[in-house]
Amino acid sequence: MKFSLDSNIIGALRCPHCKGNLSLTENGCASLVCDGAKRHCFDISSSGYVNFASPAQSKGGDSPEAVKAREEFLSLGFYEPIREAVYQTASEYAEGGLLVDAGCGEGYYSQRMSERFYVFGADISKSAVNTAAKRAKREGADKVFYSVASVFELPVKDGAASVVTNIFAPCVEAEYKRILSDNGVLIAVYAGEEHLMGLKEALYDSVRKNQERADMPADMERIAEKRVCFDIKLDGADNIKRLFAMTPYYWRTSSADAQRLYDLDSLSTKVDVIIAVYKRRDGKEML
Ligand SMILES: C[S@@+](CC[C@H](N)C(=O)[O-])C[C@H]1O[C@@H](n2cnc3c(N)ncnc32)[C@H](O)[C@@H]1O
Ligand SMILES: [Zn+2]
Repeated sequence: MKFSLDSNIIGALRCPHCKGNLSLTENGCASLVCDGAKRHCFDISSSGYVNFASPAQSKGGDSPEAVKAREEFLSLGFYEPIREAVYQTASEYAEGGLLVDAGCGEGYYSQRMSERFYVFGADISKSAVNTAAKRAKREGADKVFYSVASVFELPVKDGAASVVTNIFAPCVEAEYKRILSDNGVLIAVYAGEEHLMGLKEALYDSVRKNQERADMPADMERIAEKRVCFDIKLDGADNIKRLFAMTPYYWRTSSADAQRLYDLDSLSTKVDVIIAVYKRRDGKEML
């Protein structure tokens, strides 16, 4: 079947090597080719994503195990209030245009955003991007395109994005500022101080509230903030483990402490998330 890619998305991308424009070619299989002297070529996978990352960059990112756990947990619907709040926030600040989801994971947020925006999702985890692209293909979401790429070096032209979403992923202010249009906004979503407190209490003897993140923008202007806070109850060890495996605690917890969690029949915990909106200080006033 012929691969199609909306011109609103491809027109906003640039070659990661020479910054040339990219166009789609179909010679047996689909690929993106740049118009630079070297004609750099990037194949589109059978699931429909492109890999722009260098071999050194490709080493990072979430493992297939973490990706699977997050996909399964998110499919349970517990984080839908967060996804809807992010969608509403993006809709408040931009009527449409290109939304870049930096650190998009399995595309849980990106695909919803594509109901209003043209979406380019980038993540360094091949397994996450493959999962995201497969779902988009399966569900016929044709306004979203995914790539393996580092958020430190996005293959996006200067000023091309109306919105950058950065959801539980590394926040790289300089790069997000570079790709935002004059009136564009960065929407950063991260853990509030009480986030997953019940999970932490089940794991450890003493717990502290989460601290404000150190990588939040310093040069951009924080123009709005929403807090999305609610309680969830997970039944069964499988669902508890899915939530646990998508958190950073999974990698830092001893097997004895983890076992305390797996022995529970159910887990109640607070979900506490901050949605912060930033604009460029040098941006024009919104009309
Ligand atoms: C906690 S997950 C969040 C995924 C998604 N935004 C969500 O909330 O469902 C963090 C994601 O950031 C990605 N990531 C980490 N470092 C990255 C980098 N340098 N460039 C791109 N993605 C990165 C990981 O692979 C992972 O998918
Ligand atoms: Zn090139």
